[in-house]
Amino acid sequence: MPLSKTALNQVIRPVTARVNPLGNWDIGSCDLAELVKTYGSPLYVLDEASIQSACRAYLQALREHYPGPSEVLYASKALCNLAVNRLIHEEGLTTEVVSGGELFTVLKAGIPAESVTFQGNNKSFEELRYALKEGVGRFVVDNLDELDLLSTLAEEIGISPNVMLRVAPGIEAHTHAFIRTGEIDSKFGLDLPSQLDEAIRRISRRPLLRFLGLHAHVGSQIFDVEPFVATVEVLLDLCAKLERDYGLPVAELDVGGGLGIAYEAGDDPPSIDAAIEAISLAMIRGTSQRGLSLPKLIVEPGRSIVGTAGATVYTVGSRKAIPEVRTYVAVDGGMPDNPRVVTYGARYSVDRVAAGDNEELVTLAGKCCESGDILIKDIQLPKLKAGDHLVVWDTGAYCFSMASNYNRLPRPAMVLVAEGHSEVIRERETFADMVSRDRLPSRLGGQR
Ligand code: LLP
Repeated sequence: MPLSKTALNQVIRPVTARVNPLGNWDIGSCDLAELVKTYGSPLYVLDEASIQSACRAYLQALREHYPGPSEVLYASKALCNLAVNRLIHEEGLTTEVVSGGELFTVLKAGIPAESVTFQGNNKSFEELRYALKEGVGRFVVDNLDELDLLSTLAEEIGISPNVMLRVAPGIEAHTHAFIRTGEIDSKFGLDLPSQLDEAIRRISRRPLLRFLGLHAHVGSQIFDVEPFVATVEVLLDLCAKLERDYGLPVAELDVGGGLGIAYEAGDDPPSIDAAIEAISLAMIRGTSQRGLSLPKLIVEPGRSIVGTAGATVYTVGSRKAIPEVRTYVAVDGGMPDNPRVVTYGARYSVDRVAAGDNEELVTLAGKCCESGDILIKDIQLPKLKAGDHLVVWDTGAYCFSMASNYNRLPRPAMVLVAEGHSEVIRERETFADMVSRDRLPSRLGGQR
């Protein structure tokens, strides 16, 4: 059955978002004003149905468009906690981690280590040993140093890890365009062609390492299919080269993540289905042109799995109107719970939880002692007063995972909502948490 034309990553609100008969915004049939009453403010709300819908869209698109084997890795850096990892695993995705902390979380969530892929450009000795001992399914080796470290550790432990090699394909994806760069300036991946050749030579001398294939990831919040197609082309050229030069078949190709989502009206990323279709076609055409068999196709989305599912509910506090300049309305969170605005100039959409007609132009400010702590500049909203609630959409990806305690603001709770039911999946931090790891030295009165 074809997917609907508008996919989750092309809309601004979760699939279950609607205005209820009381006139308030609901997610998962839970009234956001009620949620804040129960769980406090600010509050991250996560829609289970939206996550499921995104996972299913990827799996269905691959079934429909790619005749070979395939796998969807959830890039857990986008949002990593027990419930989210577990939910996505149960939807049939496997998991990508980039640190010992993410690996620990994923294993605690009950996800088998064999279904985990370990990424990252500077995995430490301890992280690699931990991952090897746990039996992690794949190591995406980023550089020659890591290859040596991994093989030494594998020999010590007596384990045969599965290895993919990450290459720097010379493709840079921006939100609305991409470029092929002649010279490659990136901290990620093996430089082509010499470091890849060297890695293959080293692997051939280390029989414990099981070479599976190649990996590339060219960016995030991508709004075109072209960078993905270009990545496939580069990777397939390398597959042909490895077969020709070393007689080495490439069983798996990982084309990375990065598909964008709509944050504002007018944002127009390709749908999950369209992106997978373009990648699949490039794989089918490219392998046949080069006389290669179809490798396993791996994609590793993060944002497009959890981004649209998440929203942050805030409570309005103070207001400052500067005549003929601007009206600031401050909320009870900001850059600590959503660092994307100040970090990337990211833009978001917002609604008053008690839905209403737009009446005034305001700028939503956070509560941090920093002028840059602005959530949304110049936005039309219904008239706001202290105590009103606002919902900022699309905060599921890279907000909680990049959140801080700046100004010692405790990180908000996160609730998972589905069919009228809500449950805390991450407790709100407390003031006591803020000092729990502080220590007074003894000369200032601390206990030894
Ligand atoms: N695979 C690799 C190797 C990656 O580095 C990333 C993201 C992904 C997959 C998932 O990409 P996604 O589908 O989520 O775009 N903090 C930034 C985004 C950084 C992305 C880093 N890598 C933001 O908030 O926009």
